[in-house]
Amino acid sequence: MGEKDNVENMVKNWFTETAQVEWRRLGRDPYHNIEFTVTTHFLERFLPKRGLVLDAGGGPGRYTIELAKKGYRITLLDLVPEMLKLARRRIRRAGVSRKVDKIVQGSIEDLSCFSDETFDAVLCLGGPLCHLLNIEQREEAASELLRVAKKGAPLFISVISRLGLLITLLTQFPHEIQYAMHHWEVGDYVPGKQGEGFTAAHWFLPEELQTLFENKGAEKITFAGLEGLSSHHRKETNRLYKDSESGKIWTEILLRTCTHPSVVGISEHFLLVCRKATRERPNLC
Ligand SMILES: C[S@@+](CC[C@H](N)C(=O)[O-])C[C@H]1O[C@@H](n2cnc3c(N)ncnc32)[C@H](O)[C@@H]1O
Repeated sequence: MGEKDNVENMVKNWFTETAQVEWRRLGRDPYHNIEFTVTTHFLERFLPKRGLVLDAGGGPGRYTIELAKKGYRITLLDLVPEMLKLARRRIRRAGVSRKVDKIVQGSIEDLSCFSDETFDAVLCLGGPLCHLLNIEQREEAASELLRVAKKGAPLFISVISRLGLLITLLTQFPHEIQYAMHHWEVGDYVPGKQGEGFTAAHWFLPEELQTLFENKGAEKITFAGLEGLSSHHRKETNRLYKDSESGKIWTEILLRTCTHPSVVGISEHFLLVCRKATRERPNLC
């Protein structure tokens, strides 16, 4: 078995075992909910009023359900059958099955089951792109996500930050600090080689994600740090949100500051909102 298949199996096993955890992740506490709040803010701002949306790497379907409730038609794709099983149940329970056109098992590297320019918007949220360890695979995924988007359609891509990961290493994994330079310089993590506690992943720098998509024909709209100024302050954030007035003020601050370049890179996750160019550009890669 090659390195690529090995990584894919690791990723599949991890997300099969953590499907239930993944469903709860964004609603677990006020700190985790910020990622959902900020992402949803940008979806509301840049999605077209209606249309067909691809939720690629959509997992158990948090965003699929949210957008289906708002009237969008959704196609959900994920690598892991267990995630899709859970998503089917959650979609049924939420009463939005009518809005979900298709639920498809597959990888963002190969979207050949969809024709060119099928979708009015494309989501790839919560880091699916991080689980492709070769640059060629990430380039293929960026090409595919753009290929299936209509011209001018927005794409919403969120990933795990490389700088944010280094702060996580300091605060939660100080016993793995010997791998810090590898994380910084290479940006790849393979469990067993660079520590334990997560599945195989690539950590992104904002400029790296931007270049990946611009080289395939996207135009950047904005970046946003998803945990923003709360990043790595889980306890303090959860304490603040016990008082609803304080929580409201802080949410407003997070939304105002999340696009600041100093905030984007140090956030645990950041979001790139871009648009498929309306005119053909030469493929630079
Ligand atoms: C952290 S979850 C995020 C789920 C959802 N998008 C969200 O933000 O709530 C990452 C998801 O990416 C999926 N994934 C990982 N690699 C993938 C790939 N190559 N193609 C499609 N999905 C993938 C996993 O199965 C998992 O459901």
